[in-house]
Amino acid sequence: MILELQNITLNFSGSKDSFRILDGLNFSVEKGRITALIGGNGSGKTTLFNIISGFQEGFTGNILFNGKPLHALSPAKIAQRGIGRLFQGKPLFQDLNLLDNMKLASGDSSGESPFSYLINRKKIDAGEQEKERQAIDILNSLFGADNKYTKMLHNMGSEFSYGEQRLISLARLFMGNYSLLLLDEPTAGVNPVYINTIRQIILRMIADGKTTVLLIEHNMPFVRDIADRCAYLADGRIQHQGTPCEVLDNREVKNSYLGIL
Ligand SMILES: Nc1ncnc2c1ncn2[C@@H]1O[C@H](COP(=O)(O)OP(=O)(O)O)[C@@H](O)[C@H]1O
Ligand SMILES: [Mg+2]
Repeated sequence: MILELQNITLNFSGSKDSFRILDGLNFSVEKGRITALIGGNGSGKTTLFNIISGFQEGFTGNILFNGKPLHALSPAKIAQRGIGRLFQGKPLFQDLNLLDNMKLASGDSSGESPFSYLINRKKIDAGEQEKERQAIDILNSLFGADNKYTKMLHNMGSEFSYGEQRLISLARLFMGNYSLLLLDEPTAGVNPVYINTIRQIILRMIADGKTTVLLIEHNMPFVRDIADRCAYLADGRIQHQGTPCEVLDNREVKNSYLGIL
């Protein structure tokens, strides 16, 4: 197991009283596989990613990454240990060009986050030729030698469509030395052709046999197609896990999440 979450509990305070979003959750992620985390809107999936990557304080329980405790580390430290993340709905940094957006996710930065951008902004300088070469290699390898992105390295993030920005956001995760990638709704808001490209990119992520992908998705055909394992989050815990077929054919999952009576 690359990641073990033990007895994770978190309360959020609402306007009147607090509510328990995670309630003694236990969850283990198998190394080298693609695991899909599914669950209704507001069930706590993104919150769980925040907990793993160090963005959420105030929870109890243990997190083990490769058998070692991860909690109480900063997001930057956690990224340096090898956990990369695609944030839900976030496009590229609009005021940085494609190349600098790629460089931000490289090993010595602190992972893909607005937070790390603020910290590392000063570090981005023109002398980083090695990173530039790496970025070009990644783009060529994922999108083909004649791809449009390699020709648009100096175009600003804002000049790309949302779908293109999602592809680049996934591509830049290859810049870091990540062994666990957390992808929050990679296909949301993206057209079918790009979804197919995203599928190829995610398969490439695990192709080295060393990288593990944990992804949150509402696109069930995509989950059935790409995931080796599937876990269903509801009422603060993983209620069912197994192969995507096993979980998606479960009666409770069908009733309460898929809306099939
Ligand atoms: N910092 C916070 N304070 C209070 N409530 C929060 C906070 N962050 C998220 N929530 C609430 O917790 C619930 C779970 O959110 P989230 O993890 O984003 O769900 P999802 O499963 O859709 O990704 C939502 O109801 C959300 O409004
Ligand atoms: Mg979410």
